[in-house]
Amino acid sequence: MSRHENRMICNCKQVSLYDIEKALHEAKTLVDVEHAFADVQKQTHCSTGCGKCHDQIMDIISQLMYNEI
Ligand code: FES
Repeated sequence: MSRHENRMICNCKQVSLYDIEKALHEAKTLVDVEHAFADVQKQTHCSTGCGKCHDQIMDIISQLMYNEI
């Protein structure tokens, strides 16, 4: 992702923006944001700690799905 700099999104699980983007490209079920989130979570374990990052990750995934994929 060139126009965004990489940054840590999920501090609990040390998942960066780049990790989320990469997992999304490998995701099997891009039916909707919820399914994509489940796939990304399976791969990265993001949002399995405090859960504080959940909304931010959902936003990032929807942006990636609808603007860049
Ligand atoms: S910051 Fe992602 S689970 Fe806590």
